[in-house]
This record gives sequence, structure tokens and C-alpha cells, in this order.
Amino acid sequence: MLEELAHILRDNRLVVLTGAGCSTESGIPDYRGPETRKKARNPIQFGEFLKSEETRKRYWARATVGWRRFGAVEPNPCHHAIAQLEAAGLMTGLITQNVDRLHTRAGSKDVVELHGALEDVVCLECRQITQRDDLQSRILEANPSFEQYVAELAPDGDAAVPEDLVNTFIPPVCDRCSGPLKPNVVFFGENVPKPVVERAWEMVERAEAMLVVGSSLTVYSGYRFVKFADEKRRMPVGILNLGETRGDPHAWVQVDGVAGELMPQLVDLLV
Ligand SMILES: NC(=O)c1ccc[n+]([C@@H]2O[C@H](COP(=O)([O-])OP(=O)(O)OC[C@H]3O[C@@H](n4cnc5c(N)ncnc54)[C@H](O)[C@@H]3O)[C@@H](O)[C@H]2O)c1
Ligand SMILES: [Zn+2]
Repeated sequence: MLEELAHILRDNRLVVLTGAGCSTESGIPDYRGPETRKKARNPIQFGEFLKSEETRKRYWARATVGWRRFGAVEPNPCHHAIAQLEAAGLMTGLITQNVDRLHTRAGSKDVVELHGALEDVVCLECRQITQRDDLQSRILEANPSFEQYVAELAPDGDAAVPEDLVNTFIPPVCDRCSGPLKPNVVFFGENVPKPVVERAWEMVERAEAMLVVGSSLTVYSGYRFVKFADEKRRMPVGILNLGETRGDPHAWVQVDGVAGELMPQLVDLLV
């Protein structure tokens, strides 16, 4: 099966599209994997985050606990294999839906972060971008009782924190203008910024084939590239994912398997 996937991709310049499944082996849960699908989730809505100080407080309380784990994860063989593919000159670019920046840490250079990155924090007033690590120290200084609290990691660097602890939390503000802060990621109900989508389209336009790794393609902002590649460009589309994806009807070859095991093997067949 992997040989068939290599066959449709070989000698073509590739655009690679990745999702949460690339990072589960690094210890970050996905949304819709075999383990996570059944768990009910109630993601933060962008409008609610803007409007409600209470929502921001809860978000930052949970994110503070989540960051200890999320900020310490390492790239896995899937991330390294994709970086190797780029280094071999076989890619037009990498489009990722992940917010963990692990592709960049593994050495990928030309990466479009479709949904942003948790490592960047943006001020909702003055738009200043700052680093999450620096903010974490400031948050812990103001909330020392959060220093020791450990909880199970949820997707997006979120973690479960009891209400009474959330209530004691003092949310961080911008060090320049005291405005409210938001992680620089695309929340539900928020659009992907136009220049970001345009860069992604450019990568798809220049490509001769598409490889999807570790994404259920449920989210339209990723799925649309697959649909376009197949329906408008008729380019070969290969999918490597554990379980079904919404993109399967568009795939020439679908390999059901573990990305960290199979991506290095696939790259060996291609470079
Ligand atoms: N690591 C992250 O940054 C992260 C984590 C969770 C969610 N998210 C966000 O949530 C959205 C979720 O959409 P998505 O399609 O990326 O994720 P998804 O959770 O909808 O789908 C992940 C897919 O990967 C598969 N999978 C899990 N582990 C795998 C492995 N080891 N090898 C191969 N496949 C594996 C799952 O079965 C599932 O089909 C994204 O938009 C993203 O912004 C990001
Ligand atoms: Zn500011």
C-alpha cells in the first residue's frame, strides 16, 4: 500500500497538508482520533472570547496549566520525515493545521500555519505579538498557586482546571497597552487571515501532487485544498491517516496507518 502511495507521488513536486494526527505521537491529543472522538468538547468561540472577560479568564487559567506539557513536547519521526522531504527539494511547501509549531522545530522551512501557533500571543488592542514562554513566567508570578497544578492535557494546549481555581486566576494583559491577550491561533468562528490562505493556495498551485498526513479533514479550511487539488487540478492526492477522512473520496491512494512509522518509510521510497 505504501508503495502505491509512493508511486502516485514520485517525480511530482508535492504540497503536504498535515493535521493533529502528526502530533499525537508527540503526546498532543487530536480532536477526532480513535481515542478522542467520543469525548465531548466545547471549544472556545471567537466572539465569546472577545466579548467576555470571564471566558478569557477561564481560557488563560486552563492554558497556563496546559502549557507546562504543551510547551515541552518534541517533534516525532513524522515531523522529521516531512522536513527531510523538503530538504530533498521535493516539496512546494507545507500547510499545517497544527498550532504546535513542531514542523518548524523539526526543520521544515516553508510552512504555512493555517491556524496560527500557540507560541505567539497577540494583544487584541495594539496587535503586538509576544512569545508565550515569556508570558508564562509573568502569569505564574501573578498566580503562584498555578505553579504546581498538573492536569491531563487536552487538544490545543488546553487542560482541565477546577472552577474554584479558575476563579482565583488573574488573567494576563499586554505589557505595552494593558489590552486583553489572545493566543495567536484561529478560534472557532474566526477566519484564517487572508495572506495566510493566499500563501497556502500558492503552494497548492505550484504543486503536482498532494499528500495529506494525519488529518480527518473535517475542518473546511484544510479540506478545501484537497477538494480543489482533485476536482479542479486533477492532481494525484494521497492520504496517510489512521482511520477515515472526509477527503477519502478525493484520494487516489489512502493508507490507513501510523504517521510516525510510515512517513519515514514513505520518504525513503521517495528521496
Ligand atoms: N497538535 C495540534 O496543534 C492540534 C491538536 C488538536 C487540534 N488541533 C486543531 O484542531 C483542528 C483539528 O483538525 P485535524 O484534521 O488537524 O485533526 P483531527 O483531530 O480532526 O484529525 C486527526 C486525524 O489524525 C488521525 N491520527 C491520530 N493519530 C495518528 C497517527 N499517529 N498517525 C496517523 N493518523 C493519526 C486521527 O485518526 C484523525 O483522523 C485543526 O484545525 C487544528 O488547528 C491542533
Ligand atoms: Zn497591547
